[in-house]
Amino acid sequence: MVRVRFITAEGDAVEVEGADGASLLETAQAAGMPLEGTCEGQMACSTCHVIIAKEWFARLPEASEDEEDMLDLAAGVAPTSRLSCQIELEPGLDGLEVAIPAQSHDMRR
Ligand code: FES
Repeated sequence: MVRVRFITAEGDAVEVEGADGASLLETAQAAGMPLEGTCEGQMACSTCHVIIAKEWFARLPEASEDEEDMLDLAAGVAPTSRLSCQIELEPGLDGLEVAIPAQSHDMRR
């Protein structure tokens, strides 16, 4: 199992264990995080956007160009933003910390 710590938009920490090989998106959804993941990993939406903790970002495989393009359209992108459907859990990611962005309506304040 791979431990992942989610930080909700409200700032609460939720620690879960995901299966080796599971996507970060499905792990987040199983933990009750409000990520829609509308296109189910097809990189045709950006509703699975998450913000990776800085110290973990560099340890992830790099985003593809398609992922970067889709991230450009996501609300509230940060320098360490990723699409969670493109990240596969593996033992090297044990302890990964991931923030769930605030809902888009909060971004307009
Ligand atoms: Fe649509 Fe990730 S679920 S891009």
